Amino acid sequence: MGWHIKNNEMRIVKVHRVKAETRNVKTIFFEDELCASAEPGQFLMVWIPGVDEIPLSLSSASKEEASVTVKEVGEATHALNKMEKGNLLGIRGPFGSSFKIIGKKALVIGGGIGAAPLLMLLNKLLTNGIETVFIMGAKTRSEILFIDQLEALHNEYGLEVIFTTDDGSYGTKGLATEAAERCLSEKVFDSMYVCGKESMILKLYSLAETYTIPMQASLERIMRCAIGICGSCVIGRYRVCKDGPVFDFSQLREIRRELGKFKRNFRGERIFIEK
Ligand SMILES: Cc1cc2nc3c(=O)[nH]c(=O)nc-3n(C[C@H](O)[C@H](O)[C@H](O)COP(=O)(O)OP(=O)(O)OC[C@H]3O[C@@H](n4cnc5c(N)ncnc54)[C@H](O)[C@@H]3O)c2cc1C
Ligand code: FES
Repeated sequence: MGWHIKNNEMRIVKVHRVKAETRNVKTIFFEDELCASAEPGQFLMVWIPGVDEIPLSLSSASKEEASVTVKEVGEATHALNKMEKGNLLGIRGPFGSSFKIIGKKALVIGGGIGAAPLLMLLNKLLTNGIETVFIMGAKTRSEILFIDQLEALHNEYGLEVIFTTDDGSYGTKGLATEAAERCLSEKVFDSMYVCGKESMILKLYSLAETYTIPMQASLERIMRCAIGICGSCVIGRYRVCKDGPVFDFSQLREIRRELGKFKRNFRGERIFIEK
C-alpha cells in the first residue's frame, strides 16, 4: 500500500532534453527516482501545467534519466511536443502491470506510437539473452519510430528488426500482422508481446491462439485517476490502469469480445472504437 501511495504523489520534474523522433513524435527525458525502477509496459500520468494530465507509457527508465515518447494528437500532446530543456512537468506513477519475460525466443510487434513502451521491453529482453524479432509497423515512412535505437540494438545484441509500412514507403509493404503471420509460420517463438491499435491486437490474438503462443498486449483506455478508483478505464471486469495496461493471454481471452470494438468516453458511455 505504501508503495502505491508514494507512486501516486505528484512530483515536479525538469525536462533534461528533447529528441525529435518524427515530424509529430518527440521523446522527453527527465530524471525521477521512482521511474528508475519501472518495468517495461508501466505508465505515468503526466501533468502539463495549465493544460491537462494524460497517461503516457515510459519509453526508457534508468537511474540517470527516464523518458516518455509522445505523438501529437490533441491539446495536451501538442503542449508536450512544445516542451524544451528546463521546462517543468508533473508526474505520477509508474502505474500498472508490466510485460513479463516468458521463454527464450520472443516476437515483439509494435504499431506506430505503440512502439513507445516496447523500446524498454526490447532492452530488457535482449539484456536477458532472449532471441528477439521486432516488427515495427506504421502507415508510412514518416511514422516509423526509433530507427537509430533499433539499429544500435541490432548491432549490439543481434536484434532482428522487420519494418512494414502500409504504403511500402519503408521496409516491406503491408501490415505488421501479415509480417507476424509469416514469422510465426517460419520460426518457433515462446512468446509474443504487442502494443498498438486494438484491431491489430485482436488479429494477433487470433494468431497467438492458432500457434498456441502466450501473448501479452498493452491496452489503452481513457484514464483519470490511474489507481483503480474512477472506473473510466474499465474493460470487461478489469480496470486497465490497475489490472493492466499489460494483459496476459488468459485475460485477453476473457475480454476479446470488447477488444477493438468498444471503449468508454469521458462521460463513461460505451462507444465504438474507430478502425
Ligand atoms: C496506458 C496508456 C499509455 C499511453 N502511452 C502513450 C504513449 O506512450 N505515447 C503517446 O503518444 N500516447 C500514449 N497514450 C495515449 C495518450 O494518453 C493520448 O494520446 C493523450 O491522452 C491525448 O491527449 P490530447 O489532449 O493530446 O488529445 P485529445 O484531443 O484530448 O484526445 C485525443 C484522443 O486521445 C485519447 N485520450 C485523451 N485523453 C485521454 C486520457 N486521459 N486517457 C487515455 N486516452 C486519452 C482519446 O481517445 C481521444 O479521443 C497512452 C494512453 C494510455 C491509456
Ligand atoms: S483510470 Fe480511474 S479506475 Fe482506471
